[in-house]
Amino acid sequence: MNAKVEKALNEQIHAEFFSFYLSLSVAAYFTAHHLDGFAHWMRIQAQEEFAHAMKLFDFLNERGGTVELLPLEAPTREWASPSDAVEAVLEHEKFISSRINDLVDLATAENDHATTVMLHWYVSEQVEEEATADTLFHQVKMVESSPHGLLMIDRELSGR
Ligand code: FEO
Repeated sequence: MNAKVEKALNEQIHAEFFSFYLSLSVAAYFTAHHLDGFAHWMRIQAQEEFAHAMKLFDFLNERGGTVELLPLEAPTREWASPSDAVEAVLEHEKFISSRINDLVDLATAENDHATTVMLHWYVSEQVEEEATADTLFHQVKMVESSPHGLLMIDRELSGR
């Protein structure tokens, strides 16, 4: 397979595994602060990020590329407030979206149509992920000064 695309997909596998790690770290933060609904939401998010990494892993293998797993750096563990933690997730999703867009540009420039088509799934997925994180961030911001509001959101998130 195209060497530039292969390298970029391996870097994206790393970015998705880091997303998995960051989501777990946010889940641990919420668990430590007794917001179990938020923690539950982040654990499910972590599973989704793991699946995103594995989808690329499987695609590289299918195309005869070589998977190269890169070292994972430690994510942040502590945030100043629940809204800061959710904002970190939102900002990371925006970063991932920009990476996906760059990947689409690369695959298109390299005439790698199979990779371009595969990446369209990630483009749509990122729209959904950014929207979900954005809504949650703004809701948490709205109720931040009221423990009652925060607990209501926590209860709602436990049903995700
Ligand atoms: Fe897999 Fe949320 O980026």
